[in-house]
Amino acid sequence: MSESNPETYSIVVLTGAGISKESGLSTFRDADGIWATVNIDDVATPEAYARDPDRVHAFYNDRRRGLTDPSIKPNAAHDALARLERDWPGEVLIVTQNIDDLHERAGSMNLIHMHGELLKARCERCGTVAPWTLDMSVRTACPSCGRKGGMRPHVVWFGEMPFMMDTIYAALETCGLFLSIGTSGNVYPAAGFVQAVRQAGRAQTVEINLEPSEGATLFHDTVYGPATEMVPQVVDQIFRYGGG
Ligand code: APR
Repeated sequence: MSESNPETYSIVVLTGAGISKESGLSTFRDADGIWATVNIDDVATPEAYARDPDRVHAFYNDRRRGLTDPSIKPNAAHDALARLERDWPGEVLIVTQNIDDLHERAGSMNLIHMHGELLKARCERCGTVAPWTLDMSVRTACPSCGRKGGMRPHVVWFGEMPFMMDTIYAALETCGLFLSIGTSGNVYPAAGFVQAVRQAGRAQTVEINLEPSEGATLFHDTVYGPATEMVPQVVDQIFRYGGG
């Protein structure tokens, strides 16, 4: 933030599974996380899908049903980021690794789902991406081309390229403040965003997490505690002091 006007600098917020934990959605690498019970190679790679599409569909069908359960709602951390976007005079971009839709439900609009969206389906035959809340299988027909066997969750699997990377790096290189919230820093390219910001040399970088992430030492500031408490506090501070 050093050379930026505190009234106008832009903010990039990277979020991970930790921000949705207190809404009732599981993280991946915590002791009770998803990867403690399911093997990544069985459900989250193109090879797994080619080998056993029913298994992969079952995994995402379960998660989709979980996400559409009426008990799952955005929490105070999602709300605080929506408020930041609404009231901050500069641009606020949320880049989320999460495939849930809790940022949207809280009111965030300038949002990139770099790992895709659980409530969308993609047809591998014709490329159509469509909203999707129901179960899916190899027998599901594409709503656009009508063909079966090509419908898959619109999510990014390990080994696939995350979405909108050019837009994300452009925002990282020009922002005045970078917040990383609720991510363990294990998965690239997102884990490398703080380095891209540091290399550009303009922005303050802040990690908000339950505990130090893999890349914790790369941040200027760190704030540890539950996202529902820490994110509203940090957002208040940004409005009060310009993020310092
Ligand atoms: N508040 C803040 N942070 C929390 C909370 C909470 N209430 N609960 C957990 N955390 C932190 C954990 O300490 C952990 O560091 O959130 C982090 C979650 O880390 P992961 O489970 O690894 O999730 P994430 O970083 O989003 O994973 C990245 O990995 O498997 C892939 O595609 C998946 O997008 C995901 C990617």
